[in-house]
Amino acid sequence: MIPLSRPWIGPEEKAAVIEVLESGMLVQGPRVRALEDAFARLIGVRHAIATSSGTTALHLAMLAHGIGPGDEVITSPFTFIASVNSILYTGATPVFADIDEATFNIDPAKLEAAVTARTRAVMPVHLYGQPCDMDEICAAARHHGLVVLEDAAQAVGATYHGRQVGSFGTGIFSLYATKNVMSGEGGIITTDDDEVADRARLLRNHGMRDRYRYETLGYNFRLTDVLAAIGLAQFQRLEEATRLRRANAAALDETLKNVVTPVVKPGREHVWHQYTIRLDPQTDRNHAVKVLHDEGIGTGIFYPIGAHRFPHVSKAVGEVDMPVTDRAAESVLSLPVHPLLSPRDLERIAAAVNAL
Ligand SMILES: Cc1ncc(COP(=O)(O)O)c(C=O)c1O
Repeated sequence: MIPLSRPWIGPEEKAAVIEVLESGMLVQGPRVRALEDAFARLIGVRHAIATSSGTTALHLAMLAHGIGPGDEVITSPFTFIASVNSILYTGATPVFADIDEATFNIDPAKLEAAVTARTRAVMPVHLYGQPCDMDEICAAARHHGLVVLEDAAQAVGATYHGRQVGSFGTGIFSLYATKNVMSGEGGIITTDDDEVADRARLLRNHGMRDRYRYETLGYNFRLTDVLAAIGLAQFQRLEEATRLRRANAAALDETLKNVVTPVVKPGREHVWHQYTIRLDPQTDRNHAVKVLHDEGIGTGIFYPIGAHRFPHVSKAVGEVDMPVTDRAAESVLSLPVHPLLSPRDLERIAAAVNAL
């Protein structure tokens, strides 16, 4: 079976974990700080704050910006539910702007149209590893005085006109097991804002600056050193892994027929967390998934239902029409693109998709 994703774990990860276990410093030790430094350097920002997951990174980033009840945060409905749930956790209201049919990322014109007097922040999601239209989104945010929270969970290392995602506003990354840099579970917040960074660090650890003195209600959103050590080892091979993902995506672009291959807009360096095609509306996707599975090819559907359609979301947001998202949700299919694919794997994937 060619799996949709496969963690690239080498002797470095194993040795790093054993080293932490033997050090006796399992939490709040040097590996977490080293991972934070590595992220801050890559993204080109002053601060990186490690958390227990991408979801807690999103939640914490919003709390650090003081987002809460009465506020609205505009985001994409075509995303993993964590983008939306994290807004709900704070008591703020998610407001959806539909996506661009070609890239699956939030449409800046619809984002602009969704701004109200209560809007506090916009949360573009760099879906599958492709940067959103950051010029337009940042211009709208500046015009309306909004915080930019980039959900870069899937996009570590992606650039927009040479600039790293996660550096346009406050960024969040996920280190979940399938991500391009992973630690099993984990998250990172990136920011140039000293106050936001300070608040995120405070709230990450129960609002405690001095031992057992609590300035405010906080949380336990800490990352362990064991997991940070895995993330650090992964970081060392990010460049190579991204290069391989790009080569695999280029090979699929060249060989796939009769399906809509991914559209990458100019000025963006995609990092191919997912390689997502669109099937013809006439093709039965469930059947296609089964045929590919029988051929030994793993696939994924990200995402089969728009976030606006879940009961707990529509209860907060109301019934909204997101036709582009609905169409995408019915027709997308992600194929393996991970760095451990062989040339033979790529040939098999193309042959099986072309025979659908
Ligand atoms: C777009 C997006 N946002 C947020 C998250 C949440 O990250 P995590 O699973 O690490 O909590 C993910 C990852 O699964 C994601 O893909």
